[in-house]
Amino acid sequence: MIEHIVNKIKSCIPKNHKQIHMHEPNFNKEDLLNVTNCIKSTFVSTRGNYINSFSQKLQNFTSCKYILLTSSGTAALFLSLKTINVEKCEVLLPSMTFVATPNAIMEANGIPNFIDSSIDSLNISAAKLTQYLEEIAIIKDKMCINKITGRVIKAIIIVHAYGDPANLTSIRKISNKYNIEIIEDGAGALGSFYNKKHIGTTSRCSILSFNGNKIITTGMGGAILFKNKNDFINIKHLISTARISHNWKVEHDKIGYNLRMANINAALGDSQMNRIKTTIRNKKTLFKKYEDVFNNDEYCFLHKSNIENQSNHWITNLYLKKKYKKYHQALIKKLHKEKILVRELWKPQHMNIMYKNMPKSSMTNAINHWKTGISLPSSNYK
Ligand SMILES: Cc1ncc(COP(=O)(O)O)c(C=O)c1O
Repeated sequence: MIEHIVNKIKSCIPKNHKQIHMHEPNFNKEDLLNVTNCIKSTFVSTRGNYINSFSQKLQNFTSCKYILLTSSGTAALFLSLKTINVEKCEVLLPSMTFVATPNAIMEANGIPNFIDSSIDSLNISAAKLTQYLEEIAIIKDKMCINKITGRVIKAIIIVHAYGDPANLTSIRKISNKYNIEIIEDGAGALGSFYNKKHIGTTSRCSILSFNGNKIITTGMGGAILFKNKNDFINIKHLISTARISHNWKVEHDKIGYNLRMANINAALGDSQMNRIKTTIRNKKTLFKKYEDVFNNDEYCFLHKSNIENQSNHWITNLYLKKKYKKYHQALIKKLHKEKILVRELWKPQHMNIMYKNMPKSSMTNAINHWKTGISLPSSNYK
């Protein structure tokens, strides 16, 4: 059985590899030229043309008018939470996410409250969310209160796990009913759409990541997509050390942060954006290959993406059927022996030691996905 799965994976990825990683960055001559030009210009830090040019390309691609470039996706999440001000409040989020999501909540002095995934997707389950809020939430003075902890539930972070768009319509209905603000964590979802709109363009704040393993990279980096101009202006000031604009005076009007993207990072993002459509096409082709070889497989399967939605297929995950769950570790070990460096999925965050005492819904699906899932090699193969 293990041999059978390994062979199917091998049939989808480049032959004669020394090592094959889960997601490798992709560079070309234009990237080298942009970074070299940036160095030659001496504007490698917080000012420079590439910041404007990369932002503009992101604006055109996503159709979002207000985008701020940040030093990482984690910084973008933290700043989104600062926009909403979640201090001493609870923030709902899926347990099936990367650790940066709850970490950012803690950094913004909020309290994570974890929700289970759907049975057939890693993304937050609207049914579980409804059931959980019916059990724990009351509305008082237009605020959603967790009657068990006495704290306000102020926001929900909707994660588009591994690039797969979450069901925004159902979750928005629930959040409207309970007066909860939405932040979208689209760290891996550049190029993913929901009902024909780029993810992150219909909520108050949303984030992207350009870390080295993402669909495009700036080395490290991120972005916040804002719906409102005022939020954009406020956070732009906050991440620029709250410096009052002046040609020679160096004065500040509040405690700010230095969480901007540097021009040298933006130079890389700028050239990577020139081929974003080809990159996404390649990822979709790879997904289709995996889908075809594992179609009606005896041992394993892929999650189906909602037809309405359009995933960028950042990472393709494979799941063992229940009966074969016990072979999970053996399969990963065998693939590593063959230098195919697959990974387990994110360990559900409510199971990590630092989050085990945080509030949470009942958890079955997230644990099951984690125990059966494997992130396959998903790079931009031509
Ligand atoms: C869901 C999710 N959120 C946040 C992040 C953090 O992004 P960054 O690594 O740019 O800080 C990641 C990174 O992989 C992620 O997958």
